[in-house]
Amino acid sequence: MIVCVCNNISDREIRQAVDLGLSSMAELRRDLGVATCCGKCASCAKQVLNEHLDSKIHATELSFRSAQTA
Ligand code: FES
Repeated sequence: MIVCVCNNISDREIRQAVDLGLSSMAELRRDLGVATCCGKCASCAKQVLNEHLDSKIHATELSFRSAQTA
């Protein structure tokens, strides 16, 4: 799904950027240009960013727990 129409940035690209280490809207703006034109995508981009950050934290916790029990 395209999140930022002005810059043609998809939710997938935002998630890939998070996987590469981006963790804030300021970094998404700087590196992808998200929300740098009309700004209408900002809330959706932030939601995609936060959901993916949360899923990464959850995956890390599960990985840590299974390493402890192994
Ligand atoms: S839709 Fe993202 S800046 Fe316009």
